[in-house]
Amino acid sequence: MSEENFDIEPQRFAEKRRLKRIKDSELFEVVEEVFDYRTLMALYDLLNRGIIWKMYGAVASGKEARIYWAEDRLGRDLAVKIFLVSTAEFRKSRLIYIEGDPRFKRVGGKIRDIVRVWCSKEFRNLQRAHDAGVRVPKPIAYKENILVMEFIDAGIRGVPAPLLKEAPPQDPNDAYKWVISSVEALYLKGKLIHADLSEYNILNKREELYIIDWGSAVHINHPHADEFLLRDLRNVTRYFERLGVDVEDPEDVYKRLKSLLQQ
Ligand SMILES: Nc1ncnc2c1ncn2[C@@H]1O[C@H](COP(=O)(O)OP(=O)(O)OP(=O)(O)O)[C@@H](O)[C@H]1O
Ligand SMILES: [Mg+2]
Repeated sequence: MSEENFDIEPQRFAEKRRLKRIKDSELFEVVEEVFDYRTLMALYDLLNRGIIWKMYGAVASGKEARIYWAEDRLGRDLAVKIFLVSTAEFRKSRLIYIEGDPRFKRVGGKIRDIVRVWCSKEFRNLQRAHDAGVRVPKPIAYKENILVMEFIDAGIRGVPAPLLKEAPPQDPNDAYKWVISSVEALYLKGKLIHADLSEYNILNKREELYIIDWGSAVHINHPHADEFLLRDLRNVTRYFERLGVDVEDPEDVYKRLKSLLQQ
């Protein structure tokens, strides 16, 4: 999708203009898939509050969300993650990370409600990780199924930094230490477990790593916390072992973290 196809400025939101643009076939597709009425309203709200000033095209899309490049009033780049509300899979696959977390009350059955909770959960997890000193895109705002955060670029505006998977670190030992110490800080200070940690959810911005995709993260009191922690540690250990790092046994890291928590 090209930049011009989705260039929204607040003043352009006159109804006539919107209807005209909706006729544009590519935008129509976007409206169909992502921007249902309530999503549009949430987007207007973020625009009206001045959080988003300008919106460009989609830069990445996952199974459940699309990431757009946007700009704030001061011209700073934003990543706007818009969760799709139409995927039935969402409910099944995500409920396990929400239910059982003491921070979240029981969620109803509607997809939109679950997606809304999921979005607020990712925002709060980002905030918590950020406060614990873990390098993540800075969370800025959220509304309904839209999350606004700092844009991590590759050194060129609007181009997302590559995943660690695509751009392995120049110094794998260093990167391994950074990832393990991030998991530790997150666990001990933030009382959180990422629960989807791997080389697919770490961005490499010119050798500065950022952990992304925080929707799955759970509180350490979550009933599946230990299982998720061990899985995260195994994932990252496997990746760095392949890069030739003399890794620590993930079980040992796990035990160390558990005992540090007791102290
Ligand atoms: N803050 C950001 N800055 C720049 N690019 C980002 C940012 N957050 C996400 N991205 C890009 O968008 C992609 C998808 O983001 P994320 O992993 O959060 O969404 P997802 O829908 O859960 O994806 P998936 O289902 O593929 O895991 C990332 O792989 C990355 O390329
Ligand atoms: Mg991801």
